[in-house]
Amino acid sequence: MERTFIMIKPDGVQRNLVGEIIKRFEQKGFTLAGLKLMQVSRELAEKHYDVHKERPFFNSLVEFIVSSPVVAMVWQGEGVVASARKLIGATDPLAAEPGTIRGDFGIEIGRNIIHGSDAIETAQREISLWFSEEEICSWENSMKPWLK
Ligand code: TYD
Repeated sequence: MERTFIMIKPDGVQRNLVGEIIKRFEQKGFTLAGLKLMQVSRELAEKHYDVHKERPFFNSLVEFIVSSPVVAMVWQGEGVVASARKLIGATDPLAAEPGTIRGDFGIEIGRNIIHGSDAIETAQREISLWFSEEEICSWENSMKPWLK
């Protein structure tokens, strides 16, 4: 079962976009496998964005992520990693297509509402960084035949 890690950043939570964002993933047909509202520690934020630690925006990015609560989620379904990136849109909200989450709701690259894993291996790393195994539902014995 393919899974991805999605985080609604502090701006998305403060702007009351949590329901709207969850709705888009639900309507697409993906399945929610994990969900929590959390205040992120600096250590977790730094680990999550470790690949960017030499970039000039790293400090302000970490400051932003720890500044107020985020919603961390695991979504699953066929092709969910790439499809979630499409639902989310380009990193710079001004360049993101209308119809995408960033394209519809954002203006600033440093306040781009949502994070989604960029590849299957990244998703696995991020899910194990943010969630314990007990916090994730497998849906293994689900009776819903439309869940792939
Ligand atoms: P990145 O992993 O390149 O983008 P994405 O979130 O689309 O996978 O960058 C991580 C975050 O860093 C991005 O969501 C917003 C922030 N960022 C900046 O603030 N300035 C920048 O120039 C870039 C490239 C990213």
